[in-house]
Amino acid sequence: MTAVAERVRHFVSIADLEPDELGTLLDLTARLKADRSQRSDLRGRTVALVFEKPSLRTRLSFDVGTAQLGGHSVYLSPAEVGLGRRESVADVARVVSRMADAVVLRVNAHETIEEFAKFSGVPVINGLSDLSHPCQGLADIFTIRERKGRGADLRGVVVAYVGDGNNVAHSLMLCAAKTGVTLRIATPPGYEPLPRYRELAQSAARASGASVEIGNDPSVAVAGADVVYTDVWTSMGQEQEYERRRRAFSGYQVNAQLLARAKRDAIVLHDLPAHRGEEITDEVIDGPLSAVFDQAENRLHTEKALLCWLLGGKR
Ligand code: CP
Ligand code: NVA
Repeated sequence: MTAVAERVRHFVSIADLEPDELGTLLDLTARLKADRSQRSDLRGRTVALVFEKPSLRTRLSFDVGTAQLGGHSVYLSPAEVGLGRRESVADVARVVSRMADAVVLRVNAHETIEEFAKFSGVPVINGLSDLSHPCQGLADIFTIRERKGRGADLRGVVVAYVGDGNNVAHSLMLCAAKTGVTLRIATPPGYEPLPRYRELAQSAARASGASVEIGNDPSVAVAGADVVYTDVWTSMGQEQEYERRRRAFSGYQVNAQLLARAKRDAIVLHDLPAHRGEEITDEVIDGPLSAVFDQAENRLHTEKALLCWLLGGKR
């Protein structure tokens, strides 16, 4: 059986977005956030959520966002679907896309999303994979723009990411590179972002004037930064590496001492869930510079913009 039409627009990676499309999505997010009245963009539409891993923010923002746009959502847990085990990924994609109008996938292996997208007749949204988290990237860059941008202009904004070069870091790199941000990443040696994402980011940065620097020293990355971002040291699916990672990342905690090197009016971001006392201290995440819960709320507004853009013809 062949794959379905290539005309369907998916949202699998930030790399799939042209910089002007990213700008359109962020503008639409700002409008939706400013006017929270009930809308009917998704009237009669159903969004399926097929998740292989736990979630609070991603599930809730798509559920609530779909309802606020007048549509319905259906959540399918790992036990129900058994992607690639109970049934092939291709067959699940064919069935889901005969009934739903879009599907949000959260998967263990990124290839599952790529395989699903090949056989889906409706838009597929990456709700997190081991390699990327583009929905988080949208909320991150929207929050940075809202708090630190001069309008939509992010050139010259310095973002320091301290911690693991993981799925969240990969999507942040691509968002930063497409919007002109100066991103400084500091990871322990051996935990840097993957070369493929570094290359994509460098190429987008050349076009936008952004800069993406990757090193191993948190104090260098954070010096004079406008934004300090961190994520867990052990992501979902890496639990067996927990002890090794705790040791490797011990000098990479975002605490008051490290934050003192950033600008006085810097903001702190974390995609959540946080492992308090590991990658971030209570003092910082609950402190006056924390924008973490605004960032979490922004998942709702960016998810709504994405659904309007993919399903409502708002381009
Ligand atoms: N940040 C984020 O994606 O949170 P969840 O894993 O709870 O969805
Ligand atoms: N890097 C984390 C992000 C969770 C939203 C993980 O993959 O578990």
